[in-house]
Amino acid sequence: MFVESSLEQLQETLGLADVSTGTVALVTTTLVLSAALVYRQFTSEKVEGKVPPHIPSTIPFLGQAISFGTSPIEFLLVAYEKYGPVFSFTMVGKTFTYLVGSESSALMFNSKNENLNAEDVYSRLVTPVFGKGVAYDVPNHIFMEQKKMFKTGLNIARFREHVHIIEEETRNYFNRWSKEGVDDLFKALSELIILTASHCLHGREIRSRLDEHVAQLYADLDGGFTHLAWLLPGWLPFPSFRKRDRAQIEMKKIFHEVIQARRNNPNPDDDMLQNLIESKYKSGENLTDDEISGMLIGLLLAGQHTSSTTSSWLGFFLAKDKELQQKVYEEQKAICGDSLAPVSYDQLKEMQLLDRCLKETLRLRPPIMTMMRMCRTPQTVLGYTIPPGHQVCVSPTTNHCLPDTWKDFDKFLPDRFLDPEVANSEKFAYIPFGAGRHRCIGESFAYVQIKTIFSILIRTYEFDLVDGYFPEVNMSTMIHTPTDPLIHYRVRNTEL
Ligand code: HEM
Repeated sequence: MFVESSLEQLQETLGLADVSTGTVALVTTTLVLSAALVYRQFTSEKVEGKVPPHIPSTIPFLGQAISFGTSPIEFLLVAYEKYGPVFSFTMVGKTFTYLVGSESSALMFNSKNENLNAEDVYSRLVTPVFGKGVAYDVPNHIFMEQKKMFKTGLNIARFREHVHIIEEETRNYFNRWSKEGVDDLFKALSELIILTASHCLHGREIRSRLDEHVAQLYADLDGGFTHLAWLLPGWLPFPSFRKRDRAQIEMKKIFHEVIQARRNNPNPDDDMLQNLIESKYKSGENLTDDEISGMLIGLLLAGQHTSSTTSSWLGFFLAKDKELQQKVYEEQKAICGDSLAPVSYDQLKEMQLLDRCLKETLRLRPPIMTMMRMCRTPQTVLGYTIPPGHQVCVSPTTNHCLPDTWKDFDKFLPDRFLDPEVANSEKFAYIPFGAGRHRCIGESFAYVQIKTIFSILIRTYEFDLVDGYFPEVNMSTMIHTPTDPLIHYRVRNTEL
């Protein structure tokens, strides 16, 4: 009975609720076998020095999978209280070592990729979605060159144009809402952000081909980002794996056509796509069409869930605190005038209260709950030696709510960032975009995108929670989305 309910819980934890019992049996067998292999391989590693305290478990291989999967942040905070800033535990045969708090997190952010390695943990999940030749499928120094190409393409001149594009897409999208009603905010923002991100990051031609079929291809690609895909080999015959692989082929075919047309266009748009077409590696070589396509998929998907989840939470925090929402609206009028004319990049920069609200949303609900690396060589931190084979993790969500660093850590208080002590707090206390060599390159674009969308939304609608319900955090998805994300809206000003 216990084993049965444990399996059911594991199934839910891993996001397997939609597959048959036979599939679950196959998964379970595969998990146990692969876990046994990994376990044997890594438990035999011995290091000099004191290893981090290991949280004991009564269930071999499965370890803490159920407790962690059900309530990861609570699990980590309790473990931090009991074991301190560095501790290990087992889940499905793998050993995870968490570094909690700024001081211990420094190990991850200051380390070299060859010691704490990202490809070893992310490639199985990401490569089948983005394709070969990009991101974690190439040596890290090549990915660093690709990240530099992205950064060059995300500059202020482009952001100035992006603000207008995002405003127009937002107005067009929300035309479908009536004057007052209840709607799914997360669904709306997810759909909108595919349109805005595709328009800004892929360009006009690709955006114009974004119909329902292409949106489904993105959804199928995105369906590759599951706990299942992270745990199991990509060749296994799961329907979601096959859909993901077919979607990648079809999506790349579309991108290849657009890239070819661009290469033959004597007057191309000046945008990210053109930037990638003209970029060169240090070796002097250009990117191939396939690499450009993989990078375009990566750009869209890296920002899709992160931004749609963050903006939904922002909406719910504002709906919950009506006084704050009114102040955010007043800020819009103060900066853009009573007529609330179209927003510009410079005005967006001036919206400091909206900025702080977004920053505080990213503190309480950072979309990436855990960053992970494979420990390849023994690593020393705060008197402990982490053996090779451990998966070393830092959780922004956990660092963002340590009571010794954050006063009233569980309250949504955007003005906390006005306090110079908070602004200058420990280096890795606030890390929604990571740090070090794997740091996010999309932060500025994400701010432009989310602030523009909310600037328009808050001018147009007044938001309320539905029957006072503030969404629970959905822990079963890789990014912690809001559960039942319905919001009540009412048009503020019909002339807008
Ligand atoms: C609210 C929005 C976003 C959040 C919170 C976010 C968060 C993060 C985090 C935490 C990392 C570090 C991962 C690690 O160290 O393992 C990261 C890396 C990255 N992000 Fe973002 N991101 C956001 C939006 C975007 C957007 C819009 C783009 C693209 C335009 C993007 C592209 C990337 C890339 C290319 C990396 C580098 C990964 C690496 O070097 O390993 N992100 N992001």
